[in-house]
Parts: sequence; structure tokens; C-alpha cells
Amino acid sequence: MQPNHPLPVDPDRLHAIAGKWGTPTYVYAEDTIRERCLTLQKLFPDLPVFWLYAVKANDNPHILDIIADEGFGFDTVSYEEVLLCLKLGTSPDKIFYTENNMTDAEMHGAASKGIVLNIGSLGRLKSYCESYPGSKCCIRIKPDISDGHHAKVDTGNLDSKFGIRMDRISDALDIACEHQVSIHGIHAHIGSGIREPENLLAEIEILLNASRQLDDLTFINFGGGMPIPYRNDESSFDFNHFAGLASNRLNTFLKKCNRPVSFFFEPGRWVVGPAGILLAQVNTVKDQGRKLFLGTDTGFNHLLRPALYDAYHEVVNISADSEDGTQTYHVAGNICESGDILGFDRKLPKSSSGDYLAILDVGAYGMTMASHYNRRALPAEVLVTSDGFHKTIRKRKTADETVDDFLNETGKLSTDKNARTV
Ligand SMILES: Cc1ncc(COP(=O)(O)O)c(C=O)c1O
Repeated sequence: MQPNHPLPVDPDRLHAIAGKWGTPTYVYAEDTIRERCLTLQKLFPDLPVFWLYAVKANDNPHILDIIADEGFGFDTVSYEEVLLCLKLGTSPDKIFYTENNMTDAEMHGAASKGIVLNIGSLGRLKSYCESYPGSKCCIRIKPDISDGHHAKVDTGNLDSKFGIRMDRISDALDIACEHQVSIHGIHAHIGSGIREPENLLAEIEILLNASRQLDDLTFINFGGGMPIPYRNDESSFDFNHFAGLASNRLNTFLKKCNRPVSFFFEPGRWVVGPAGILLAQVNTVKDQGRKLFLGTDTGFNHLLRPALYDAYHEVVNISADSEDGTQTYHVAGNICESGDILGFDRKLPKSSSGDYLAILDVGAYGMTMASHYNRRALPAEVLVTSDGFHKTIRKRKTADETVDDFLNETGKLSTDKNARTV
């Protein structure tokens, strides 16, 4: 393991967790999450900057509690995420709902609960304004800036499905005005895992300029997308440098605009990504001639990023030592698809069945994207707490329970011997 990529949880502890709860298991370090929240909270000491955590990155209720405790609000992208935050006791004014092809039922559900709606299309804005004349809302714009670690998460580009076109902002204002709705906020999010920090600064500039059209402006939300290094040779996003440049610009804006305006950022990955490890076990070592495979008890049903985005996650064998020799392996999952490779050509200590692997930087977009594909059970989740303990924050279901749940949900859990006949 390279020193610039330390494990958030030490290998002895990971062995203890694997011994107690088995694998595959997502393990999170509370300390890492808290430290990262604190770093963000200190970045803009003299500005009204507030942090919303993007729930989609990791929505385990225990993780949300930690982040709420650090003073963050929540950025949600579905009605279900809104409900989750509310049910966990978050006050509605700390929940921001960025809709995306929202249904009427979702709109009424969220609006009736006092949630700020961030509306990204003229059609939806119209139906909102007709339903809630005299109220307030935020609009999401499409800044025509392309970024993100992969085309599939590039959300601000010219052809993106997200946000209201810049040349239609005046139409949005007309719709709102017709129904006495005040557009009190403006938002954009250019992509997840931003590659060029200059793009984030350019987006800020666009939002500041666009906000001049809003007479009722009280806040601007610059979105999330701050990247983390996944490879050992990748550098970290220089948040201090970014905050310095952004602060200058925001200060100038506030002086000119002469009224109280708050600013929001909504990172997900940056907060939780490095705090998470997926702990898996090797169960097969297989020489396929040209490639040597390490077969594991997890797969893309548990960690989708490599298959979906060709994403790289560092893999560490915590049971073996490089001093006993190394070998190059494809680290493979147990899903019945040839695309289920978690890491290609990884140089690892000589590995054997029974070894434990730590797959790093999976705290964001790991468990939230997990599925029951191949009807497999989901991983357990364990939190290593700041007071030095570890506890399960999501129990593993057995194979039997997983199948019974499925039969139950599909109305087929029955002792009736005719249950198979439709
Ligand atoms: C609207 C919105 N805000 C914030 C985020 C968080 O992005 P990230 O986890 O890259 O910070 C996302 C994710 O794509 C998003 O869609």
C-alpha cells in the first residue's frame, strides 16, 4: 500500500470485522467522515456558505446522522430521499429537493411537507406554479459546461437532460410571475467527479450572472461534484485553493448585490468516498492461461462503479504480504457476466483462497447503487465509530431471507402447493 493512499480502517480491525460479520461488508470510518465535514465547514469562514450533503452518495441512516450532526443539510434527488431525511428527523428547511422528471404526486408530497423544490424544467415549473401560486421555489439551470469523471455523470453539458436552458430563464420568470411565485434560488450541478476545477469556477460565474435576473433571490446553489483521488498517482482536489478563488468572487458579488444572499454547495463523493471500504473474500484462484483471476464473494451487484463507469478502485490484500512475492491478477466478482471485473491487472501479494481484500474509496456510490442482481443478498454495512468500536449499521440477510423477501414481494411466498400456477 502506498503511503499516499492510507486505509481509513486498519487491517487488524478489518480482519476482526470480517471474522465477526463475514463478507462482503461495507466498512465506514466515522472519523474520516467527521474530519471531512469539518474541513468543508472551515473553508469559507467569512461567507454565508452552507453545506448540503448529497444523499445519493450514501444514504445509510447512521451516516446521515453523522453528517447532520456536523451541521450539514441534505441535497435530495428523489421523493424517497426526501422522506428518508424527514423520517430521520431533519427539519424541512434543511432539505433541498432537486427534481428530475418528478411526478405530480412527488411534487405535492414534497411541497406539502414544506421542502424547497429545485425545478429543472419549464413544464414542471408551470405545473408547480399553477398548484402553488404565491409560493417560492428554486430553478436549476443548464450552464452548458461539460465535466464529470465519465460521460454518464456529465450533467451540465449542452445536450444534458438536466436543468432549464439559460436562454429560457426569462420564460421561467414569466411563468413564475404569472402565478406570483417567487424564484428565490438558482442552482446548477455540472457533473460528478469534476476533472477541471476551473469549470466549477466558470459555473459559479454563470450562476452569479444569471442570478441578477432574480428579484427575489435569497440563495445560489453551486451543486456538488468535487472529486476524490482513486488512483495512488492522482492528486486531491485542492479545496483551499478553490475556496480562495471562489471566496474572492463571492465577496465581490455580495458587495455589489447589497442584500443578503446565501450560498450552497452539495458534495456527496468528497464527504464519504474515502471513508468506505468494501471487504471481500477470495474464494477462487484461477489460471485462465493468459490471465490469472482472483474470484471473490462480491461483484458489480455490490460495487457497480467499475462496470458502469470503468471506474478504478484500489484493491489491497490485507491477508498476504508482498514480501512473499507478488502476482498480477484480474480481481473478479461472482456475477454471471464477463464484465464483472472489479480490478484489471492488479499487482497484489501472492493471494490464496480465504484471503481478505479491501476495495478502497467505496463510501460514495457503493452501497447506494447495489442491487440484488443474480438474486444475491446485499452486503452488510459496519461503522467504525469515533469512540473506537465497530457496529453493524445494516444487517446482512441470509440467502434464504433474501429469496423469501423476494417471494413475499412478488406475492409468491406461500405454503400452498399450487402457488406456482398463475
Ligand atoms: C444534483 C446533484 N447534486 C449533487 C450531487 C453530488 O455529486 P458528488 O457526489 O459528485 O459530489 C449530484 C450527483 O451527481 C447531483 O446529481
